[in-house]
Amino acid sequence: MLQNVRGTYDILDDEYARFTYVNDLFTHFMNLYGYKMIKTPVIEDTAVFKKDNDTSDMVTKEMFTFSINGKDSLTLRPEGTAGVIRAYIQHKMYALEAPVKLAYIEEMFRYERPQKGRQRQFNQLGIEVLGEKSAMIDAEVIALGYTFLRTLGIEDIEVHLNTLGNNASRSRYIEALKDYFRPHIDKLCADCQMRLDKNPLRILDCKIDHELDVIKNAPTIKDYLDDEASEYFKDVLKYLDTLEIPYVIDEHMVRGLDYYTDTVFEVMNTNKEAGSQSTIFGGGRYDNLVAEMGGPAMSGIGFAIGEERLIMAVEQAGAFPDLTTTPDVYIIDLSEGDPYVLKVAEILRRNGFSVVVNYYKRSLKSQFKSVDRYQARYTIIIGEDEIRDMKVNIKDNRSKNQEVVKSDDLVAYLDRKLGGNEYE
Ligand code: HAM
Repeated sequence: MLQNVRGTYDILDDEYARFTYVNDLFTHFMNLYGYKMIKTPVIEDTAVFKKDNDTSDMVTKEMFTFSINGKDSLTLRPEGTAGVIRAYIQHKMYALEAPVKLAYIEEMFRYERPQKGRQRQFNQLGIEVLGEKSAMIDAEVIALGYTFLRTLGIEDIEVHLNTLGNNASRSRYIEALKDYFRPHIDKLCADCQMRLDKNPLRILDCKIDHELDVIKNAPTIKDYLDDEASEYFKDVLKYLDTLEIPYVIDEHMVRGLDYYTDTVFEVMNTNKEAGSQSTIFGGGRYDNLVAEMGGPAMSGIGFAIGEERLIMAVEQAGAFPDLTTTPDVYIIDLSEGDPYVLKVAEILRRNGFSVVVNYYKRSLKSQFKSVDRYQARYTIIIGEDEIRDMKVNIKDNRSKNQEVVKSDDLVAYLDRKLGGNEYE
């Protein structure tokens, strides 16, 4: 039997309803905070994601990269930021009034080892604010994500925050880390030994080495921040305090992607059931990425929420409302397929009522079972008499009252009963 590919999965029925619920609230939040939705292609030139000297696992090991006819190298997007920036530059959005605030709900692809909370195809809800650098924006971006999670009913969350400094501070810190780690290189794992020259920041959040004293005692960025970077971070904290967003400063948090400068953050699910993949969303500021990708020197900031992990957290909080939908009307057809049945259904739908029709020959008993299964509010029964007289037999499944109504009067009848959900 044909099966889905490892690390991918089908989103069915109730699960689909949960995605829709979360997406709708996200879209609502985007209106509240003034973002415009954007959709970029799933495939991009590999160069969109891969830059010289990339060290992140995502770019070096996890990309679905392929070429067609031995020509272009293409990649299924592993994250949203690079594609959005490619579009921002290509469509000269930098000429618009800054900041340009963009949001996306899209599938991402990473060749990772699948486990709970980690798939090879997954969904992200992301935002990017481009063209303006301000501590106010950083705080607002974090507040947006935090408030979104709280509005969904997730309470067990912790905001982890750090700064990587501006370019000048960051370079000084990187040199200091190299000097510090070099004499201890043999204590580090093989990956970290490679990271030492290329990106020693990543050593700080190594999953293998994080318990080592040499990592715990490593110099922290705050001693290398210049006044500008230090003031900037203090301002971010000040705004977060004003907005009453609780946070933990985590001096070893550097994020898994290479492009960050200044503010970085991750929001963790602290529920006991969360498991090892507990980061619901992460993001940060990037001062250099737009220029590196060929645009003007403009800063940006954003985050991406892992939607599967988000849904898991809402489930753990028991915070999903009842999302089952039930039709207004189920039509039982005793005529075995008279066009009148379909016509009644269509008239109702055109007037905004949801209708399920029995399309094929079945016993009355099994049709009544369907009414129960669908939990329709009304049952309409159509037989030879009803067809002849252009009427229907309609039963209120709550009160059990049954009436005969002319098909011409049916919309008005249901409008009266169901409180007018006509949309025409
Ligand atoms: P990221 O930290 O790589 O950042 O991913 C963001 C979130 O996506 C993670 O916190 C996690 O919830 C989810 N995620 C990542 N990988 C997987 C996976 N294999 N399976 C399920 N969920 C996953 C970014 O992608 C950046 N583009 C965020 C950003 C936007 N930074 C600035 N702007």
